[in-house]
Amino acid sequence: MKAVAIHRDSDTPELVEKPRPEPEHGEALVRTLRVGVDGTDHEVVSGGHGRFPDGADHMVLGHEAVGVVADPNGTGLDIGQHVVPTVRRKPDGQTNDYFRRSEADMAPDGQYVERGIVGAHGFMAEYFTSPADFLVEIPASLAPYGVFVEPLSNTEKAIEHAWAARSAFEWNPEAAAVLGNGPLGLLTLWRLTQTVDRTYCVGRRDRPDITLDFIDEVGSTYVDSRETPVDEIPAAHEVVDVVYEATGYAPHAFQSIEALAPNGVAALLGIPDSWTFEIDGGGLHTELVLDNKCLIGSVNSGYTHFEAARERLEAMPTDLLDHLITTVTGPENVAPAFVDDDDQIKAVVAFGAPQAED
Ligand code: NAP
Ligand code: BGC
Ligand code: ZN
Repeated sequence: MKAVAIHRDSDTPELVEKPRPEPEHGEALVRTLRVGVDGTDHEVVSGGHGRFPDGADHMVLGHEAVGVVADPNGTGLDIGQHVVPTVRRKPDGQTNDYFRRSEADMAPDGQYVERGIVGAHGFMAEYFTSPADFLVEIPASLAPYGVFVEPLSNTEKAIEHAWAARSAFEWNPEAAAVLGNGPLGLLTLWRLTQTVDRTYCVGRRDRPDITLDFIDEVGSTYVDSRETPVDEIPAAHEVVDVVYEATGYAPHAFQSIEALAPNGVAALLGIPDSWTFEIDGGGLHTELVLDNKCLIGSVNSGYTHFEAARERLEAMPTDLLDHLITTVTGPENVAPAFVDDDDQIKAVVAFGAPQAED
């Protein structure tokens, strides 16, 4: 079968031929329909994040997938059922309390692998296998947009944790700032427009630009970080109750504290490289304490977050989803899916011709 992989000595994804995987006990065989590409995939390809499967000279890419069950293999799934796989799996031969509790997303480094990212082959292949309890059913109508379930599930987790951190008192967030106008930031921006009255999205682009058009379309206000650094959002606009960081620009983690209203919460999702810079640590520490502010980190997502993302996506207008998909290409011509320029938001690699059950 065809698959798209990155080799250890290369920074260019390539088409490779691999045997079709055989499902083991408890696993189903899934025929892949679409796989999305995000900032993390670019970090994996450039060697900035993740690691190859032990002993392998390549890793099949892809963690944002949607497919159709081809062989339920006695798992109780139905042939033709559309599914989205979760990303984390137990490391070979191990299990641990996080997986026993279905909280793999809370496992520390070393206690999980991530398909297509950390030590395990991904889903960017004509077929993949997965334990059935890591496959989230979605309706057929959502299949063209199924690649958004995984990234939105990351956001559903971050929002659940951020709101939980403010659950001990009466908290009514009215304004939120999303940092980053990549695919994760824009999807999250729409999500937050469903929950808070006023939203801001921080980027560093000039108009005309397709991401800034999206910000306008969802009724949000664009903030150019070259003119208004994140810590100056209160002076230029207003203090915000929620910050969602999706830039991977490390100073944003600390500037967020100053953008927050008292009792606000900032969720950090970006994964920057090591970066040393100066901050007023004492001032920020004091601000966190005296204003009851909260900074949380959030990574990955669990089954319930995928279910929440599925429900949310069903409510998202398809013209907005179409706006986000900028490239659809096949595995034989995968280069356009890994172009990272201002015209790209969400690139999708599509497998095979549609079949009756699609
Ligand atoms: P992406 O495509 O790299 O998007 C990042 C966006 O941030 C880009 O649009 C970039 O603008 C913008 N940006 C960077 N620095 C900025 C600055 N100083 N001011 C304003 N805008 C700035 O990545 P993504 O897929 O949306 O994901 C965002 C980040 O979250 C990545 O670091 C990714 O690894 C991480 N991530 C984490 C999780 C998790 O579970 N924690 C899940 C998914 C992704 P330009 O395009 O104009 O340069
Ligand atoms: C993926 C998550 C993963 C994270 C860190 C994100 O792009 O969507 O599932 O946990 O990267 O590797
Ligand atoms: Zn991702």
